[in-house]
Order: sequence, then C-alpha cells, then structure tokens
Amino acid sequence: MASDLYTGSLLKTLVAAKTGGRILELGTGSGLATSWILGGMDKGALLVTVENNEMLLSVAQQNLKDYRIQFVLEDGYKWLKEYKDEKFDLIFADAMPGKYDLFEEAFSLLKPGGFYIIDDMLPQPNWPEGHAERVASFVNFLESRNDIVLTKLNWSTGIIIAVKVEIEL
Ligand SMILES: C[S@@+](CC[C@H](N)C(=O)[O-])C[C@H]1O[C@@H](n2cnc3c(N)ncnc32)[C@H](O)[C@@H]1O
Repeated sequence: MASDLYTGSLLKTLVAAKTGGRILELGTGSGLATSWILGGMDKGALLVTVENNEMLLSVAQQNLKDYRIQFVLEDGYKWLKEYKDEKFDLIFADAMPGKYDLFEEAFSLLKPGGFYIIDDMLPQPNWPEGHAERVASFVNFLESRNDIVLTKLNWSTGIIIAVKVEIEL
C-alpha cells in the first residue's frame, strides 16, 4: 500500500535536511514514497531502495530514472542480514523487514543523528487479527530505548519520527 501524501511530504522535508545524505527505503512498492524522497535529495545524495516484488519495482524503475537511486530487487530480510556498506542518514522502514522484523539490523545501519521513519501506526480497518497488539508492543519497545528520541504523530496514517542518539540523554 502506497504511503499517503502527508507521509511523502514529511519524507521530502526530512531528506532535505540531510545534505549529501544516504537514504534507505525498505519496501519500494511502485515508488510513490520513493518519488517524494527523491524530491528532497540534493545532487550529492543517494537513495537505496529495496523491494522483493519484481513487477512493483519495475514500475518504480520505469518512472524514476535518476542516477541517485539504487534499486535493489531482493528480499529485505536477506539484504538486511548481508549489507555491510556505508550507513544511512535516514531510513524509511516501510516493509516488515526493518520494522517489525530485523529492527536491530536496520537500526544498526543508521548513523547517529539519523532519522528512522515509520508510518501506518494508527489503527486501520484492514489490519489483520493480532496486528494492533504487534504495533502497540513495537511502539512500547521503541519508547523504552535510551538510544532513541522519538515523536509519535497522530496525523496521516500515524507516523513515528525517531532519531538515533549516541549517548543516553
Ligand atoms: C507498504 S508497501 C511500500 C509502499 C511504498 N514505500 C510507498 O510508500 O509507496 C510495502 C512493500 O514492501 C514489499 N515487501 C514486503 N515484504 C518484503 C520483503 N521481505 N523484502 C522486500 N520487500 C518486501 C511489498 O512488496 C510492498 O511493495
């Protein structure tokens, strides 16, 4: 499900704060949020976006031809376990891997001061059974950490803006 326009606008704004930033999107989909992210990137910025659905990724690739985007057709679980390159300034975690699963692996790829962004945190009619509990427990987990400063936005689909901090505040 593509992110809404509010989330897109917020992503564009936060990305614009990271000059020459390295951005990671987990779950490209057909590239709607990718296009917003691209809109906030300067010439020196780079976006790595990971998707396991070939058909969706090809839609994004066809519509977003830009030298600053690296499209990765791979399972996010595998990618997160194997990625060893440079860390990122902003992660938009929009798939299970990197959000509800393998959070530590994804968060370890974020630089101190970097943004970790998630949406779809407010109850939706299409949530499967048990998902509300999973969301609540994930939010509690994020709030319990001393290496994260976060704000929960009761706006759009429910967004959390988290910043990684190096030392306990
Ligand atoms: C919420 S949608 C992404 C929407 C997109 N970020 C946007 O805002 O337009 C989640 C995407 O994650 C992809 N996905 C699900 N499981 C995945 C996995 N294991 N590895 C990579 N991508 C996955 C789905 O195919 C889907 O396109």
